[in-house]
Amino acid sequence: MIVRKSSREIEKMKKANKIVAEAHEMLRDKAAPGVSTAELDEAAEEFIKGRGGEPSFKGYKGYPASVCLSIDNEVVHGIPDQNRILKEGNILSIDIGVYYQGFHGDAARTIPIGQVDNEKEKLIDTVKRALDNGIDKARAGNRLTDISAAVQKTAEEAGFSVVRQYVGHGIGREMHEEPQIPNFGPPGEGPKLKEGMTLAIEPMINVGEYEVETLEDDWTVVTSDGSLSAHWEDSIALTDSDPLIMSRP
Ligand code: MF3
Ligand code: CO
Repeated sequence: MIVRKSSREIEKMKKANKIVAEAHEMLRDKAAPGVSTAELDEAAEEFIKGRGGEPSFKGYKGYPASVCLSIDNEVVHGIPDQNRILKEGNILSIDIGVYYQGFHGDAARTIPIGQVDNEKEKLIDTVKRALDNGIDKARAGNRLTDISAAVQKTAEEAGFSVVRQYVGHGIGREMHEEPQIPNFGPPGEGPKLKEGMTLAIEPMINVGEYEVETLEDDWTVVTSDGSLSAHWEDSIALTDSDPLIMSRP
């Protein structure tokens, strides 16, 4: 069942997502060559708790940290570690979830560490545009997979591939609600979109093939061919006009 939210509930979700957006700004400023991913995780947890929230991911299915930090060929769910030190030229995918006063917010960004090459810049630009083009289809009267198809088209026109194994999701009182939102497939399928739906759309795009695998730590997802990957996610609410992007400042 897809749970639609009232405007009062959406106001609350905006508050959870505001903490997510501010945590992203804080981590973006801190992330630099020589900094460990554990330091960033600690800073994020302190920030989220300081704002009265809880990190949504901590303890979720046993996840051991507050945020996910995935470097270069890591797609999602990288576990922060004091021995993972950021280096000039890396790309870092930062995924943050916050639970605040009964609702979750969820967003991901991929950022360059120092100067990165053109391919990395193009990958980041593409995943961002893919999400924007998907969000633009999140309108009452459209079908769910209109979003999916718009994301896929943007990624593939740039010569990249879209991860199949992980998808976006509804969000609200639970971090993962219905529906699942694939980032690929033909348009015009799935449930009809309606005002009050709240969705976390999250394309993951690889430079090479779309296949991924999970490392021995049972969490870190990497590209099977070792190619670079980027992730961008926003939590949005469907309105009677333009989609409301709750997780942007
Ligand atoms: N943004 C991701 C998601 O929706 C992050 C989940 S990480 C986990 O699903 F640790 F909580 F699993
Ligand atoms: Co998510």
